[in-house]
Amino acid sequence: MHETITIGHTSVESGERLHQIEMPRFGLGVWQLAEGGQCKGAILHAINSGYRLIDTARAYSNESETGEAIRESGVERDELFVVTKLRRMDAVSYDETIQHCRKSLDNLGLDRMDLYLVHAPPEDIDTRADVWRGMEECLARGWTRAIGVSNYGAHHLDAMRSYATIMPSVNQIEIHPWLQRPALHAATEAIGAVPMAYSPLARGDKISDERLVAIAESVGCTPAQAAIKWVYDTGAITIPKSSNHGRIDENYASLSVDLAGTEADFAVMEEEYVSGWNPTAET
Ligand SMILES: NC(=O)c1ccc[n+]([C@@H]2O[C@H](COP(=O)([O-])OP(=O)(O)OC[C@H]3O[C@@H](n4cnc5c(N)ncnc54)[C@H](OP(=O)(O)O)[C@@H]3O)[C@@H](O)[C@H]2O)c1
Repeated sequence: MHETITIGHTSVESGERLHQIEMPRFGLGVWQLAEGGQCKGAILHAINSGYRLIDTARAYSNESETGEAIRESGVERDELFVVTKLRRMDAVSYDETIQHCRKSLDNLGLDRMDLYLVHAPPEDIDTRADVWRGMEECLARGWTRAIGVSNYGAHHLDAMRSYATIMPSVNQIEIHPWLQRPALHAATEAIGAVPMAYSPLARGDKISDERLVAIAESVGCTPAQAAIKWVYDTGAITIPKSSNHGRIDENYASLSVDLAGTEADFAVMEEEYVSGWNPTAET
């Protein structure tokens, strides 16, 4: 069984921790899971196997099926944790941030989500403050239990201190053995947020890395399980994606893998490998 972690928002003015809630540390990412049954089938299987956190986004075009799966799962809504994200192209103003949060709730068929993320730093730097004010308003309206960011570099997080009333609860960023990011992990924690690691398998690109295969053999698990558990053991929340029901179970079982003694073997795997995009490096 996976653990939960307390997330919350640090008040910029007082330093007080606000809106603290529990969040599962492990879940299913649903990017590239298509509507028409694939997305719903994967989520229903995952929930049935013990997953309690689902990570979607407007950009994934599957919020509707994600909501259907949540409702049909038979698990109480309060036991599930639903994350979605404000598309970068929609992150343009205070009003549009609020409108798109409402639209995502309508797509999901839910009266509130658990965590709403800015998918990446808004491209127009001048709109970043307004977009975050819109996120704070979504939280104030009770449409989401927490707000956060994704793909924010340390400089983006630092800049928020000048315009935020409350700081993000989460920063969702790419982290895996080939892109370990200890500095960004620390910068995220320094603002009171928890790192949420996406692409823990580097999108599957590195699953046959012989160093990973050797570690997996030495501890008696699969390569995917070793990579996921390494990410989990950094303290980050993580959300491996699979469309395959057997692999959904395999990934969940990674939580019982014991990687003690493999720390040095993982340390040398760092190669600053970005499997997707990297807005953290943008201005
Ligand atoms: N905020 C962002 O900008 C951002 C960016 C990327 C991802 N994300 C989130 O993070 C989630 C996960 O990241 P990701 O989808 O990029 O990549 P990932 O989870 O690192 O890897 C997914 C890939 O690995 C394969 N896979 C899964 N389990 C496996 C296993 N046990 N053995 C072998 N292969 C396996 C999957 O194929 P099958 O489906 O065929 O199993 C898929 O091709 C996304 O779904 C999304 O929710 C967020």
